[in-house]
Amino acid sequence: MLIDNLISSVGRMADHVLHGRIVGVLGMMVEIGGVQRALSVGDRVTIIARGDRRVPAEIVGFKGERALAMPFGTLDGVGLGCRAEIAQTDPVIYPHESWLGRVVGSMGEPIDDLGPLNAGQIAYPLRNAPPPAHQRQRVAGKIDMGVRALNQFLTCCQGQRMGIFAGSGVGKSVLLSMIARYTSADVIVIGLIGERGREVQDFIHDDLGPEGLARSVLVVATSDQPPLMRRQAAYLTLSVAEYFRDQGKNVLCLMDSVTRFAMAQREIGLSVGEPPASKGYTPSVFAELPRLLERAGPGLRGSGSITGLFTVLVEGDDHNEPISDAVRGILDGHIVLERAIADRGRYPAINILRSVSRVMPGCNNDDEKRGGRPRPANARGLRGYGGNDPARRLSPRLGP
Ligand SMILES: Nc1ncnc2c1ncn2[C@@H]1O[C@H](COP(=O)(O)OP(=O)(O)OP(=O)(O)O)[C@@H](O)[C@H]1O
Ligand SMILES: [Mg+2]
Repeated sequence: MLIDNLISSVGRMADHVLHGRIVGVLGMMVEIGGVQRALSVGDRVTIIARGDRRVPAEIVGFKGERALAMPFGTLDGVGLGCRAEIAQTDPVIYPHESWLGRVVGSMGEPIDDLGPLNAGQIAYPLRNAPPPAHQRQRVAGKIDMGVRALNQFLTCCQGQRMGIFAGSGVGKSVLLSMIARYTSADVIVIGLIGERGREVQDFIHDDLGPEGLARSVLVVATSDQPPLMRRQAAYLTLSVAEYFRDQGKNVLCLMDSVTRFAMAQREIGLSVGEPPASKGYTPSVFAELPRLLERAGPGLRGSGSITGLFTVLVEGDDHNEPISDAVRGILDGHIVLERAIADRGRYPAINILRSVSRVMPGCNNDDEKRGGRPRPANARGLRGYGGNDPARRLSPRLGP
């Protein structure tokens, strides 16, 4: 396998390299001169800093005759006259079945000390387009979320996209981890975007456990990483989910949180000089959100689906703040967690009346719509809703 990896890496190497020169540095923005005509927004460059340190960067805009690049790392040692190498390929990853059970960083590199990752044969662009709307399958077939309150009141279908909306500390991450542990999905792709580093280990050891990890891929970019890294981790999460969807799997894609993705895009937008609109979020944030979230959903005929669950940090508990409002308008339902319910010690603090699953009417039968219990699993040949197992209703991390 190592030889295969080497052969395919060599095959992908560029036959020539173009160089530009650094002509300005302002904050996190690097201006490159000389090659702007060979570049377009989203292209990759590698800045060669003093001491031969290589800093990957992405083109985020143009100003006059200069290309503006933002680095994926720190700019230590980068000065006027440094070289910038232009990559000949689009940013793509080569996911592989063996990525299951692994933890990867924003660049698709392994960060779990389990050795190199195998590369697959098919390239998945990080900023892939969603499948054409008219060729997509319809959202169909229930998915067991493993949490009774959700299964009963906010039933979700395979290929549906839901948001978990709550203020800080109300229980979004814990609810997400409950779902990751108990869901019936074939594969789980989890993107921890811009959140706490501590939560990564908690997620792996306490929430997923060895069994859960074996069917999961974790993509991690913690809050201390540069905005480009955080944004790219969100794209990468969807690209990995798309790979498994194309393998015919029903994928559950969990992202904690899409607000941090929006914040990363805001940082990038403001650095390039975009005008701040509501709450400082720039127009590109509202363009990027649907591009990201639409990638989840049912696949083409013959492939699987990506059921998406995205957490949204509702700033100041104001459910009409711009990101909550925009995301709610894009997704197929919202699960609202309420601080007042959490304060009473009732978890998960779902406010059923304020939450909606927009495809629920189509996925329940008449008996279930009248309020009957979901039918026993075996009758449909599907996995059930957890029977009487009390653990299904309680936090796996915190116990009864
Ligand atoms: N299901 C639960 N059972 C018991 N306690 C819970 C549950 N969910 C959340 N909590 C309590 O709420 C705290 C915060 O939860 P969590 O980290 O999930 O919040 P969050 O909404 O993700 O916050 P942030 O926006 O800051 O990331 C937990 O540490 C725990 O004390
Ligand atoms: Mg959280």
